[in-house]
Amino acid sequence: MTAPPATPRHVAIIMDGNGRWAERRHRPRAFGHRAGQKAVRASVRACRERGIPTLTLFAFSSENWQRPREEVGALMDLFLRALDSEVDELHSAGVRLDFIGDIGAFAPALRERMQAATLRTAGNATLTLNIAVNYGGRWDITQAARRLASEAAAGRLVPDDIDEPTFAARLALAGLPPPDLLIRTGGEHRISNFLLWQLAYAELYFTETLWPDFDAAALDAALEDYARRERRFGRTGNQSRARA
Ligand code: FPP
Repeated sequence: MTAPPATPRHVAIIMDGNGRWAERRHRPRAFGHRAGQKAVRASVRACRERGIPTLTLFAFSSENWQRPREEVGALMDLFLRALDSEVDELHSAGVRLDFIGDIGAFAPALRERMQAATLRTAGNATLTLNIAVNYGGRWDITQAARRLASEAAAGRLVPDDIDEPTFAARLALAGLPPPDLLIRTGGEHRISNFLLWQLAYAELYFTETLWPDFDAAALDAALEDYARRERRFGRTGNQSRARA
């Protein structure tokens, strides 16, 4: 499907509100995370149908380890089962799956499934789905700086070679366009250490909708709002309209 011109090339989502959604139903928080998985499925389908080529979802932050042990365990279990149950369908739908974040911290079984899913779907091109797990924007910037420092120490580059493109090429999501639109569900108005570098010029959209209730209609509301934004990238309104 050809997307209309105001369609973002890359949507990033902070999926917030699973816990409150469950609490309102007097159910454990893990129940909300399971409902969140259905919303992930619906969003992937809706992005494919709307011709959005890249979707990045914040599934587990570097700070989420601080949650109660049972909740972290339930999330790990959910990720493992989701990898077993969803990858066939994602692959048939032409989705390229990738994981960004410090995946070395996960149990070997989970890591192996992530790597296998990445390898298996690497040739797909309908939609790139990046799942951020044990991800933090500061971690991302730090690991890129560490890689550059190692390359400099090994004599493969000199400090004067380091510019924005060189830096960006060492970050997670290197090679993909930066997100045009960031959606955060659950009513909070913050970025929470998500893609700090990559969101520099993203349009931000916040909704009270809790993540398990986020569906194609909620995505359309965000896309309609995005289509009305004037993106200036530091220029004046007149300048950016003249370039459009
Ligand atoms: C935030 O809600 C959500 C999470 C920390 C987990 C996100 C996980 C999923 C949506 C499950 C499925 C994901 C995949 C990729 C299969 P919260 O718990 O912070 O909610 P609250 O703010 O209401 O407490």
